[in-house]
Amino acid sequence: MNRVESLIGRMTLAEKLGQLTMTAAGFAVTGPFIAGDSTESIKDGTLGNLLNIFGADHIFKMQRLAVNESRLGIPLLFGLDVLHGHRILFPIPLGEASLFDCEAWFESARESAKEAAADGLAMTFAPMLDVARDPRWGRGAEGPGEDPWVGTRFAEAKVGGFQGTDLRQADALAAVAKHYCGYGAVTAGRDYASVDISERTLREVHLPPFAAAVGAGVAAVMPSFTDLAGIPMTANNEMLRGWLRGRLGFDGVIISDFNAIAELIRHGCAADLCEAATLALKAGVDIDMMSGAYRRGLPLALDKGLVAMAEIDECVRRVLTLKERLGLFEDPFARGASPESAAALAQRRQLARSIAARSIVMLKNDADALPLASSVRRLAVLGPLADAPAEMAGPWASAAVPGSPVSVLAGLSSALPQAEVVHAGGVAIDTEDGTGIAAALDRCDGADHIILCLGEAAAMSGEAASRARLDLPGVQRALAEAVFARARQAHLPVIVILFSGRPLAVPWLIEQAQAVLAAWFPGCEAGHAIADIVTGTVSPSGRTPVTWPRDAGQVPIFFGDRPSGRPFDARDRFTSKYLDVSNDPLFPFGFGLSYGRFVLSNLRISSGTAAEHDTLEICVDVSNSGSREAQETVFLFTRDALACISRPLLELKGFAKINLSPGESGTVSMSLKCSELRFLGVDLVSVFEPGDVEILVGPCADRAQLLAATVRLM
Ligand code: NOJ
Repeated sequence: MNRVESLIGRMTLAEKLGQLTMTAAGFAVTGPFIAGDSTESIKDGTLGNLLNIFGADHIFKMQRLAVNESRLGIPLLFGLDVLHGHRILFPIPLGEASLFDCEAWFESARESAKEAAADGLAMTFAPMLDVARDPRWGRGAEGPGEDPWVGTRFAEAKVGGFQGTDLRQADALAAVAKHYCGYGAVTAGRDYASVDISERTLREVHLPPFAAAVGAGVAAVMPSFTDLAGIPMTANNEMLRGWLRGRLGFDGVIISDFNAIAELIRHGCAADLCEAATLALKAGVDIDMMSGAYRRGLPLALDKGLVAMAEIDECVRRVLTLKERLGLFEDPFARGASPESAAALAQRRQLARSIAARSIVMLKNDADALPLASSVRRLAVLGPLADAPAEMAGPWASAAVPGSPVSVLAGLSSALPQAEVVHAGGVAIDTEDGTGIAAALDRCDGADHIILCLGEAAAMSGEAASRARLDLPGVQRALAEAVFARARQAHLPVIVILFSGRPLAVPWLIEQAQAVLAAWFPGCEAGHAIADIVTGTVSPSGRTPVTWPRDAGQVPIFFGDRPSGRPFDARDRFTSKYLDVSNDPLFPFGFGLSYGRFVLSNLRISSGTAAEHDTLEICVDVSNSGSREAQETVFLFTRDALACISRPLLELKGFAKINLSPGESGTVSMSLKCSELRFLGVDLVSVFEPGDVEILVGPCADRAQLLAATVRLM
């Protein structure tokens, strides 16, 4: 008999339920309450998994209790939310998505895994794969943005990066794809609210990144807190056993979200913990995170005959199998055994700096206000985010030392030693106090440039951080308007650096600034990365992975919308529009400027006709007529204008990048497998329809900027 089966044969019910339980150790607060001391339960074998603990010393102490003092010596599994770095922080995932670079997505996950594993951890509750089209929802910051195709590439890269080539390796983490499924579609963008979307949207938009994660061998999946059309995901038999295990073939561990099993009671689907535990177990949830529902509810459920021991054993088997796959039985102390070298850490910091610089999206750069001329003598660095190192970390700071990231002020001061850098915050991020504005204006006297750092606090995105308004919090607008007025009088350019976990609807700001950089939350190297862009050491290359609204009233807004039967026509009242705001976004998906000037031309497709098994080669010439080397990202979209159902106005099918020196031209090639043109037909069965499909290539999801050609599908 193998190890897992022989253990199951020897385990008491309490020990089995211990393996199905994960409790917080209290190092990091990531939910409404933290658990007390778990020492006794570890020793008596009634707790098998811990979250929110890190550091090899601490982890080893707990692990020794489990391995040496518990009856069966089953090693503990330690997990933490390592979303965008562990001690060294990369940009928030939405910022990383702006790179449109699968290798970089992989690389940052690989590095984060090495670092977290060296700290004793074996599991990360990442990647977050929720497609998010409503920026009011704060959790969009944790994921890949609005597009399912980007989500699938992100899923593959992140799972591969976290897990490495073999989960058994001491530098591999078990990844947890979360939050399955549809969490990004919470009603009105309010966190934890109900989700009610069509079966088609679920399958076309929200499921693909999870399918990709399963395809990439993800070790675990976390159901979302929310219900889907009335059925909480934690108890959703059809979605967990039916889709995830049945149709997607997932055989890993399903781990509940924090207290989510107990919350089935608040959902109104279970009367007590016994019923809640029964529902979750029946649906296929293996590990109960923080509810204590399995430990307290399942013994009763067994007595009542609501569940069978075989169902509990099935979950225990999966948890023990994961522990085995992670190599925990062979060496429970492998992760954390050898500290990383200083050189490895330095290299990782360099990577964090380069990824952070590449995540920055330049939204505007009038009259080449950026990069700053080397002749800059006095720089006024203003605004509440200018000297705010703690905010640079973003909403998941994992094990980073609080306040350790490099601020904009520090980064610019060290990058511009010849310049006098003066600073005033002016206002706080989110108060009504504008009394500091006058002092900030004084700082503009004698300055030749103003850098204005505005935006949200890190805690305004992430979990439980929805915002009904998409503007600047507090009295930041008053500060900005005062600075713009002063700058106009003095003919000074104002460069705005915007920090946020979502696109902010600030057309008035974009209009008045000479240059705007959307920096998201760049992580521990924030100030250096921003300085790299501002000084021109790095040309901006980030592209927004979400459509950028001009008004909160436009959301949800995304490029994959379907056509209306009455498309907007300014001459016809009875067409699809708002009376008070344009339909157009402030910036389309994929938008982002660089220090180059790119022109795309000469779209070529390998064939004008194609069958399902064919692959089309799509080429386009790109030239840089600017005066600096820069990188262009080219997007490949398709449009199926006539089909058995109404198809999205644009569908993303690829992206590619090219670096070009001034005056240089090159060719970008992308492949499109025609099987990717399949879609769910009228009855939600996948079809490949003959007929014309448009191939569109260009710098962003603005139809007017795309080169187009037609291919006939046979
Ligand atoms: C709740 C969050 O929804 C989830 O993403 C996270 O992994 C857990 N808390 C654990 O911190």
